[in-house]
Amino acid sequence: MLEIRNLTKGFGGRQVLKGINLSVPKGDSTVIIGGSGSGKSVLLKCILGLLEPDDGQVLVDGQDTTHLDEKTRYKLMTRFGMLFQNGALFDSLSVWENVAFGLIREGTSESKAHKIAVEKLAMVGLAAHVADQAPSELSGGMKKRVALARAICQEPEIIFYDEPTTGLDPITSDVINELILKLKRELGVTSVTITHDMTSAYKIADHISMLFEGQMIAYGTVPEIQKSDNPYVQQFIHGRADGPIKMAVRAH
Ligand SMILES: Nc1ncnc2c1ncn2[C@@H]1O[C@H](COP(=O)(O)OP(=O)(O)OP(=O)(O)O)[C@@H](O)[C@H]1O
Ligand SMILES: [Mg+2]
Repeated sequence: MLEIRNLTKGFGGRQVLKGINLSVPKGDSTVIIGGSGSGKSVLLKCILGLLEPDDGQVLVDGQDTTHLDEKTRYKLMTRFGMLFQNGALFDSLSVWENVAFGLIREGTSESKAHKIAVEKLAMVGLAAHVADQAPSELSGGMKKRVALARAICQEPEIIFYDEPTTGLDPITSDVINELILKLKRELGVTSVTITHDMTSAYKIADHISMLFEGQMIAYGTVPEIQKSDNPYVQQFIHGRADGPIKMAVRAH
């Protein structure tokens, strides 16, 4: 469904993505892991068209999306849902207006948009009265749920999750993991998740891909990654200070 071919991106002569290849099958949950600065966010921005890659292709259902005109890109974006890190909710809008933001922008009537927003909030386990609250009145975990409701509001085919559990307590993190699995089960969505949280990665992933210094250095199912003999992968998934990754950082 989503295929990335030889994607490169640099800034001011410094290569951040050095030829990324990744295939995400329809209905699959692919998790991208990798250390700080390895290029995860840049990759996501290139996929979403927020950054223009230097070279390579991003194919959605076989169609290259890297050189689309504005209108076609906008149409494509309606097939994507995005859970931004920290939720990125608009504080000046109520919860339901945040959830229904895309619908309202598309011209859906206010009463219909409100009804859909309340349904989506119920899907992520939030009561109807939350709809009229302000984001500033909510806890971090509730904000993530609202952001999730917004991500699924226009029934996307692919959802991108950027650090969905970062900053949450372990129980709330697991509730979010369960919601991600529920959306996959009930809506059949394809998803790409960026995370550092290995507990979450193991729980939600069909496949894990590891990004290191601008390249995908490993790809496999959860057991395959856990058994990987790649020392970079082993160091990362076990969170060890000692190992080749630290030496690579020191060498710079
Ligand atoms: N707009 C930009 N201009 C210049 N350099 C950038 C830009 N965006 C990202 N970079 C650089 O690209 C590299 C990768 O950044 P990126 O944000 O993708 O890291 P990351 O893997 O998401 O890290 P983290 O886990 O900390 O979020 C960094 O060295 C960063 O400084
Ligand atoms: Mg990032």
